[in-house]
Amino acid sequence: MKVIIAYGTRYGATQGVAERMSEWLHEDNIDSDIINVKKDSWPELSLYKGLIFGSGIKIGQWTKEMKNFVKKNKEEINALKGPKVFFVCSGYAAIPERYQEIKEEYCKKVLGDFGVTVDTYEAFGGVMNVSSDSPIGWLDKKILKVAGKDTPNFDPDGVNDSRDWDKIKKFTQEFIQRIKKD
Ligand SMILES: Cc1cc2nc3c(=O)[nH]c(=O)nc-3n(C[C@H](O)[C@H](O)[C@H](O)COP(=O)(O)O)c2cc1C
Repeated sequence: MKVIIAYGTRYGATQGVAERMSEWLHEDNIDSDIINVKKDSWPELSLYKGLIFGSGIKIGQWTKEMKNFVKKNKEEINALKGPKVFFVCSGYAAIPERYQEIKEEYCKKVLGDFGVTVDTYEAFGGVMNVSSDSPIGWLDKKILKVAGKDTPNFDPDGVNDSRDWDKIKKFTQEFIQRIKKD
């Protein structure tokens, strides 16, 4: 039995997290199917012994495909026997003073609004890529440069990757512990 990792991303930061999680699971002999909810078909969740799902944040919102995925699979997620965990990649989560509020707003509140229960949730930093070869369009980049002023060590011409891999690894390891206990 496998676990499933479902992610919604606009610029690739959440995809990078999902892929790294899948590698760590594999190193612990846990196979996973990893799906981009925008591009891939959505498998039957009851076939899996655990679920990790996550979304990038833009203007306070998950991707629309992740919202649809959760809406459509609400019953299946709540009925899933194994562990289920949620995360966001959010630029503001990297601001220490905002982290707790951001985590509750982008995870707990939205999951609650959808009526979905999870074992745990977490807000990781994101990638605020304002470099010249960024995949982010010029207008969005402009918004990011303004938003970035509050972010510690923000480089107004840089990639600004604030994903905390130690924290992401710990989150994944806790999920692995839950899988092994089940
Ligand atoms: C136009 C724009 C708006 C954003 N708005 C927010 C926001 O409201 N809150 C936040 O925490 N991060 C915000 N971010 C930062 C993103 O959350 C960050 O870039 C994240 O890594 C995106 O994940 P993704 O690449 O998987 O889509 C914004 C980024 C862009 C480009």
